[in-house]
Formats: sequence, structure tokens, C-alpha cells
Amino acid sequence: MFEEAQYFAPVATRDDGTVEVELAKSHPGFSDPVYRARRNAIAALALNHVPGAPIPTAGYTEQEHEVWALVSRELAVKHRKYATAEYLDAVERLRLPADRIPQLQEVSELLEPLTGFRYLPAAGLVPLRDFYGVLADGFFHSTQYIRHHSTPLYTPEPDVIHEVIGHANALASDRYARLYRLAGGAARRVESEEALEFVSKVFWFTLEFGVMTDQGELRAYGAGILSSYGEIEEFRGMDVRPLDLAAMGTTKYDITKYQDVLFRADSLEHLEDVVGGFWADCDDDSIAKLIADAR
Ligand SMILES: [Fe+2]
Repeated sequence: MFEEAQYFAPVATRDDGTVEVELAKSHPGFSDPVYRARRNAIAALALNHVPGAPIPTAGYTEQEHEVWALVSRELAVKHRKYATAEYLDAVERLRLPADRIPQLQEVSELLEPLTGFRYLPAAGLVPLRDFYGVLADGFFHSTQYIRHHSTPLYTPEPDVIHEVIGHANALASDRYARLYRLAGGAARRVESEEALEFVSKVFWFTLEFGVMTDQGELRAYGAGILSSYGEIEEFRGMDVRPLDLAAMGTTKYDITKYQDVLFRADSLEHLEDVVGGFWADCDDDSIAKLIADAR
């Protein structure tokens, strides 16, 4: 139904209770039985997690910690050049470990005193209404596995680097965290699948792939750009359009390629007014009007 569903590897629970992550043949870890066993074990942790209990500890190899250290170091350099001031301040507030993969429980404990956000483990795709809805309560669903070590700078699916370097840093900002909560409120309020999809697309083009004028140049605040080693170097050359709710909510995107249409806010205040304001009081009727405008 939604395109997002295609990029999470499906997770199956067999009759004997074992959990299997069905990686595509093209996945860099497909032929690595050790990696696959770890993926299955990490997915099982999320499936067996009881809400309210601490997030179980995932086992990572030394090589995987090295992947985190490498990507974290490379992205930090790029963030200074390409990320918004608000995001960079939030990075300083959160202070993620640079040399090893933090456990999600640890990320949650760093984040909660700052903005009240807590992490929840996800085995794979979380239905849109749950994923967005719980944002209203300050919960963020996150995958816990890391990309295969053979391709440290590439992942075909959202991994812990995306979820934590991209999203947790943003969630450490009071102003971005407020936008995530508003998106959650909107997802809870709307009733039709069409309106929910619209809300999720506005999220995609802002909190995932948003850019804005900041310090006199185009900078990124979207987690998808800020966690992608390749994409962060490319966004300034993409088709960058003015912030437009009707266009964002109806533009198709292909998650298997670099996001080539982006929407630029003039400032953080502008983003808060237009997108925050929309999420704060949108409903099925107002969204139906926006969809009609876009046609
Ligand atoms: Fe994301």
C-alpha cells in the first residue's frame, strides 16, 4: 500500500516461534549467515519487548561498532557544513557516543531529560498509524540492527545509524521534538487512510528530507539526509521547491533512490508556522481541500 513498506525487510515468525528477517538477495548481508542470525535475534528482541520494560540489549560485533565509529565521524564533518544550527546544537545536547553503537535504552535515557522523547524497539515496518501516532506521546519507534559491515556507507533500509544519528539528534531539539509530536497528533486525529498518507508525506518531506535556509545557505534538518553519507553531499543540487503543503502531501517519492525533489522552508519559524500549524489542526476535511488544490 504505502511505499515505505517496501524498504523494510519483512519479518516472519515461524510455527516453532523462531523469527526470521527476510533480506532481499540484493541486501549486502544476504549471504552472511552470521549477520543474518544476528538480524533474526535483534528482530526477536523487538517482537518480544513488553511496553514499559527497558529496551533489551542488542549484541553487536566489534566490526559493527567500527561501522558506527566510521560513519559517525564522517557525518560529523559533513554536519558542520550541511546541517542547520538547530540540529548542530541538538547534537551537542545529546552527546551520542562516537566510538560505539549506543543501545536504544541508552539513547532513550539521554533523550528523555531533554525533550521527553523515549525510544521503542521495532523489528521492521511499524504500521503508519502506530508509528506516527505514538509520536504524540513522545515515543519513537526505532530499528536496532546496523547495516552490513561490507558497505559501511550504504544501507538499503533504515538502520540504527539512521534512527539515532538522524532522528535522535533532531529529537534532542525542543523545537524539532515539538514538530514530531504535532505530526503524531495529526496522525491520531485524521480518520481516512488518504488523510493519514498525506500527513505521513508531509513528514517525509520535512522531518525526513527537509531543507531550509539557515545561516544564509541551504542546510538540511531532515533525518534521512543527515544520516546518509551520500545524500548529504547531493541535496543542494536537487530540485528544491518552496515549502508547499499541498505539493508535499501529494508528491510521489521513490525511497530506493536519492530524494530528488525537496522542499525548502525559509527558516525554522516558517517551518513551524506552515507545517507545525498544519499538523496542529488538520483534519480529513482540510486535507481533502489541500488534495483538491493540488490537482
Ligand atoms: Fe526515518
